[in-house]
Amino acid sequence: MSGTNNARSFQFAHLLAAGAFGALGAFFTCYLSKRAQPVRPPIRVLITGAAGQIGYALSSLVGHGELLGKSQRVILHLLDVETATEPLNGLKLELIDSALPLLTDVIATTNPTEACTGVSIAIMVGGFPRKAHMERKDIMAMNGSIYSKHAYALEKYACKGCKVVVVANPANTNAVILSQCAPSIPRKNITCLTRLDHNRALGQVAAKLNIPVNVVKNVTIWGNHSSTQYPDVNHGCANGITIRNAIRDDNWLDNEFVSIVQQRGAAIIKARNLSSALSAASSVCDHIRDWVLGTPPGHWVSMGVISDGSYGVPEGLCYSFPVTCKDGDWNIVQGLDIDARSRQKMDDTARELEEERRLAQDYLQSL
Ligand SMILES: NC(=O)c1ccc[n+]([C@@H]2O[C@H](COP(=O)([O-])OP(=O)(O)OC[C@H]3O[C@@H](n4cnc5c(N)ncnc54)[C@H](O)[C@@H]3O)[C@@H](O)[C@H]2O)c1
Repeated sequence: MSGTNNARSFQFAHLLAAGAFGALGAFFTCYLSKRAQPVRPPIRVLITGAAGQIGYALSSLVGHGELLGKSQRVILHLLDVETATEPLNGLKLELIDSALPLLTDVIATTNPTEACTGVSIAIMVGGFPRKAHMERKDIMAMNGSIYSKHAYALEKYACKGCKVVVVANPANTNAVILSQCAPSIPRKNITCLTRLDHNRALGQVAAKLNIPVNVVKNVTIWGNHSSTQYPDVNHGCANGITIRNAIRDDNWLDNEFVSIVQQRGAAIIKARNLSSALSAASSVCDHIRDWVLGTPPGHWVSMGVISDGSYGVPEGLCYSFPVTCKDGDWNIVQGLDIDARSRQKMDDTARELEEERRLAQDYLQSL
């Protein structure tokens, strides 16, 4: 009897074990098949000025899928100048050590041709920073020289349809130089970063209302990525109501808020003794990801794009507008009411950009 019971117990335990292993097997098959979902072929992403502080933060974010999504593999092309060879190679070593599954390969180079070959996304962070003693026309000439060379390399060696975002300052005018020196790259593919300013504006509204930043939407940065930019909340919402109705302090919105956003870069430099890097890198990812994968319905973002004359902004300036993105394309949000105060601020920042463009053109004509 006890022998039979023992045999039954053994059979039961056996069945249980088989069932458990079966379920475990099914779980792992399902888990592994999900893990092993075919990922798309890798996309080549260029970061210029990669050995600098933005490049350091950005390349890791790209490897974590923040730029193009969590199922898109990337090959990073990191470009810097000869004098930055050691930190550039050091960055490559750290990226390898990070064991990032989406990062298929890293090419660290000081050769613009190698850097630009086959890239579909170009993030132009490399540039010459303005020093205290330098005049605006000098900085324009230094960056004009860099951006005209990089434009030729991109035009010749990048993939057709390569999307470009210029980060290095003067970002808007560097983008204009790039577009003029690379006429075969469609103008719609050349943009500059004002998403950091946009995110700063969202952050200020959220902090004022003590609400999460993701329930604030549709602020706009108009114009230059400089202290003349105009952060505009007139069409924005927070938790489903207009920002003006939510905050109920027009004086703060029209004065302190505008000045905080315009001067935020300087405040970061004062605090860190270095310019924004983490937030800039994060905003680059937001800019490209929304451009490639689309903005959520009902949301817009700010992007520096080559003006088509919308809102009376002179054609050909790289000016920050509100845009929506779909199917890899951006479009300026049309039909927003612009009051007299806003009009003046939008024109002021356009004037500064026209002056920068004139200096850039003087440089290009001198070549
Ligand atoms: N648009 C924005 O929102 C925004 C925000 C923050 C910073 N920025 C600008 O981004 C730029 C980079 O900032 P950072 O803090 O990383 O500066 P950084 O000085 O740390 O790095 C710049 C890098 O560019 C490299 N470089 C210079 N000339 C080059 C060339 N011809 N080719 C390739 N690389 C070259 C330098 O060697 C350096 O490694 C600056 O111009 C800064 O003002 C823009």
